[in-house]
Amino acid sequence: MIVGDPAARLRIARATYMARGTAFGWERSLVAEDGGRVVGMVARFPQPEWGRVRLRTGAVMLGAAGARYAVPLIRRGRLEERAMAPIPPGRMYVMSLAVDPSCRGRGIGARLVDAVTVEARAGGLDAVALDVAEQNSGAIRFYVREGFTKVAEGRVPMTRTTPAVAMIRMERGV
Ligand SMILES: CC(C)(COP(=O)(O)OP(=O)(O)OC[C@H]1O[C@@H](n2cnc3c(N)ncnc32)[C@H](O)[C@@H]1OP(=O)(O)O)[C@@H](O)C(=O)NCCC(=O)NCCS
Repeated sequence: MIVGDPAARLRIARATYMARGTAFGWERSLVAEDGGRVVGMVARFPQPEWGRVRLRTGAVMLGAAGARYAVPLIRRGRLEERAMAPIPPGRMYVMSLAVDPSCRGRGIGARLVDAVTVEARAGGLDAVALDVAEQNSGAIRFYVREGFTKVAEGRVPMTRTTPAVAMIRMERGV
């Protein structure tokens, strides 16, 4: 885990959600509600926004993380970027998808992905794309069941100071 302290993790997540222009921010998020409670969210943006949101997200996360976590966060960000295939034009990119653990298996994740797909189609895009860590087998199973297929993969081997990173790019046509 990059940021071990739960309070620091929450601080970073909150700052990144509340700030404008970030990849995980409220402007780019759809939430699922159940009885007024947020039970899931998806953050997405069309491919041309990637360059801009990438820089802004990094800056906000680092600002919220503070000096203690800055170096490991920068290191991890660089590794993930190296492992990430370029996002081709015509894609709606899903940066983050999560459902409250107590509400999983009820179709909420599927509905969030469907909402993004409808939006991508309405915007004249070709596909919804995302990256998932190779070891996240539960999420990969979910995406396959929802009609996503693997289109690329990226690997950065382990070094003396950094762990291996393996990301799978998956897409679903709209
Ligand atoms: C992946 C995730 C968004 C799916 O949301 P969900 O609302 O449970 O999805 P659905 O109810 O539409 O589909 C459930 C399917 O997801 C898969 N799944 C993955 N993790 C699961 C979990 N912890 N609990 C239940 N289902 C899970 C199962 O294959 C399940 O299919 P099944 O019902 O046939 O067993 C959710 O499990 C999650 O938030 N995971 C943690 C965050 C994550 O890994 N996000 C993806 C990062 S790229």
